[in-house]
Amino acid sequence: MLSSHTPNRRPLERGARLVAATHNAGKVAELRDLLAPYSLSVLSAADLSLPEPEETGTSFTTNAELKALAAAKVAELPALADDSGLEVEVLDGAPGIYSARWAGPTRNFGLAMRRLADEVRERGGWSEQPGPRANFTAALCLAWPDGAIDTFEGKVFGHLVWPPRGDKGFGYDPMFVADGQTLTFGEMEPARKHAISHRARAFALLCRACLGGA
Ligand code: IMP
Repeated sequence: MLSSHTPNRRPLERGARLVAATHNAGKVAELRDLLAPYSLSVLSAADLSLPEPEETGTSFTTNAELKALAAAKVAELPALADDSGLEVEVLDGAPGIYSARWAGPTRNFGLAMRRLADEVRERGGWSEQPGPRANFTAALCLAWPDGAIDTFEGKVFGHLVWPPRGDKGFGYDPMFVADGQTLTFGEMEPARKHAISHRARAFALLCRACLGGA
């Protein structure tokens, strides 16, 4: 199992070259922004024409690990990959690692949110107050060409609302209100969301362990 590798917390030196192991241009941009204070040279999987591995893992962590390891081995450079999604309690954690796939090949999140709302209704979840419990999770994996990996997971808990509200975010943002907040992630200014998001929490752990930062 990939996730049984012993974490080695291997540090990334300033100035090192790092592959952002994703073909999603939005994620590359986000990783470049997050890594900007660390003076790393960030290359994308597309820049290096790396193949896109299939996400065959059964958890966010194993999917992040297989993407990071595949890129690190082919590029012969350290590589950083993430995997994320929304878990809904009353649906036993669905859509989870299938969050992107629920939106179909055209990535229609209007449809994905409607399906989510319907499935929650079938389980009686909308009677929960203030709404059905859910969390976003992000796993970040830093992998090395010799197979060493460090993986970090961040979560943000909250509840779902229906109908969706706000157009500032992406994916399931318009249906999610984090604990202690009144706005959905779709209504929040991106900077406010990024300060409390699952990805920010995973990234803070990675920085502390491997980048010598806060
Ligand atoms: P990935 O590219 O396999 O990691 O897919 C992640 C999917 O999870 C996205 O396509 C979204 O549907 C969902 N997701 C992950 N993070 C967020 C978020 O911050 N807001 C809204 N949806 C998210």
